[in-house]
Amino acid sequence: MENQNVINEIRSKINIVDIISEHVSLTKKGQYYWGKCPFHNDNNPSMSVDEKRQTYTCWSCHNSGNVFNFYEQIENVSFKEALSALGKRVGVELSGKQNSTYESRYSKYYDVYDLASKYYELMINTDSGKAAREYLKNRGINSDIIKEFHIGLSLKEKDKLINYFKEKKIDISTLNDLGLANNNIDTFSDRIIFPLDDRNGRIVGFSGRIYESKTDIAKYMNTKETPIFKKGLCLYHYSASKEQVRLKKYVIVMEGFMDVIRASTIGIKNTVALMGTALTDDQILLIKKLSQNVYLCLDGDEPGQNADLHNGELLEKAGLNVKVVKLTDDEDPDSYILKYGKGKFEALVEGAINYSDFRIERLRSGVNFNSDIELSNYVNAVLKETASIKDEIRREIILKKLATETYLSYNTLEKKLLEFADKEKKEDNVTLKREDKRRNKYERASLEFVYYMLFNERAIKLYESKKLFFINSSIRALAGEISYYYHNYGTINIADFYTYLNDKKELLATYNDVINLNLNEEVLDATLNEYVEVISDYNIKEEIRRLEEELRKEPNELEKAKIAERIRKLRIGENQYE
Ligand code: CTP
Ligand code: MN
Repeated sequence: MENQNVINEIRSKINIVDIISEHVSLTKKGQYYWGKCPFHNDNNPSMSVDEKRQTYTCWSCHNSGNVFNFYEQIENVSFKEALSALGKRVGVELSGKQNSTYESRYSKYYDVYDLASKYYELMINTDSGKAAREYLKNRGINSDIIKEFHIGLSLKEKDKLINYFKEKKIDISTLNDLGLANNNIDTFSDRIIFPLDDRNGRIVGFSGRIYESKTDIAKYMNTKETPIFKKGLCLYHYSASKEQVRLKKYVIVMEGFMDVIRASTIGIKNTVALMGTALTDDQILLIKKLSQNVYLCLDGDEPGQNADLHNGELLEKAGLNVKVVKLTDDEDPDSYILKYGKGKFEALVEGAINYSDFRIERLRSGVNFNSDIELSNYVNAVLKETASIKDEIRREIILKKLATETYLSYNTLEKKLLEFADKEKKEDNVTLKREDKRRNKYERASLEFVYYMLFNERAIKLYESKKLFFINSSIRALAGEISYYYHNYGTINIADFYTYLNDKKELLATYNDVINLNLNEEVLDATLNEYVEVISDYNIKEEIRRLEEELRKEPNELEKAKIAERIRKLRIGENQYE
């Protein structure tokens, strides 16, 4: 572990506002900066950044900390890695041997996957790989693309990979653990292999596709989930898309590998694929890290359109701007591009429609405008949708279109829309109401006292001289840590204290509760003394309650008398609480 002073030096040379701004758009309001929290699906800005204290807090998901905590989570790196990366930025050299960014306790796993990938890539260029190459060639996948996507091949024989690793003197049990083998038999046999990588571009698994017309087995097969590979966390081509997404300012979400690979052949590389799963919360957060703007380009068939509908809703709820690229007649991006070519596909992407328009279009499809009931259901459904659109111009456009197509008056539609909007607002308020943290007098006094300990030596001294005892064990531990820290460093810095709590994560929540009280930092002696009184009183009452319980259970008469005497003394205040 680096010296605490060096860590604090790095932290003090960095402005947390700058680092968070690289990932979250921040607006200054009063004392704080506010932005949408990147650690949960945030609709309204619920993260505040305190420039003075150099800390951040999400008031909704309660994620809080200093610049290191933020960087660790947003970049998905360890504390050491965050320290080294941020240190580099401010020119602070770290002592000792530096670990590579990718060093972690799973580094062996990454190495094995890397080696396996290289092996599969070699195999596709052997004589035995001829049929696979032929298959890919027929699908318009040439050797350049094979290289770019590191496409490989597992041979028919079920001991090939195992034997390759045996020659390299690598433990075969690891292959079983990583899903590359099953009971010491190769997992993949006679499949075209696509490596899957994580958000940092490290290979964390493989998917294998059959390439000869077999119908009795699954088209794709994946390596199993491991500590470093979770299907719901994976987006194909994520890491490789970053640069292009940055340039184009949006990411296109597709369904499968072949869609992404095909799009790449026509120079569209700001793409990721869901790999056939339902969109998960984790994937949404990953997408959010790439871009605020998402184009959904799922298959053109009915299930694909339904998935657009569902996923679009999830993404919009997460605060992203969503557009839909609509493919015609059951095509997927792969087959569409093959059939109609680059220009047509680009035009389709250009013409992507807003998600809300897509929803309205879906509502309209199949409605019989001659049926009064169907028509009014349709109008109500559209108005309900429109009520959640914040952009007034778009609302007006939709209303105008609706008025034209239904022959209803604009005023009637607008009136109804306002009703829906009102209702929506009320529902929003209900969900927004914060959980009311009701604390009793004792809990409040304890937290507030500890708060003042962070800013006033007098509070720390009082805590020590009175041997203040907190019944709540995490408040007790936190107070102990503050006092210890103070004696070690001579002062307490709110941001650095987060670093100190790094290996005491169980105290973090309590520290946040305390810090987020946001009281003045100054306090009168008289107030501190009042806190001490409340806390001690409560402790005595608690102790009496505990002793009474003991008394009830105690069978021995002599012991009973002893306990009763202690209770009596506590009651008359003769005995200080120890
Ligand atoms: N998938 C999978 N297992 C399957 C089928 C599909 O994991 N048995 C995943 C793959 O990631 C695939 C995605 O779902 O890329 C979409 O499926 P599909 O559209 O059937 O695959 P395509 O990408 O179109 O592949 P291909 O064109 O080669 O059939
Ligand atoms: Mn396909």
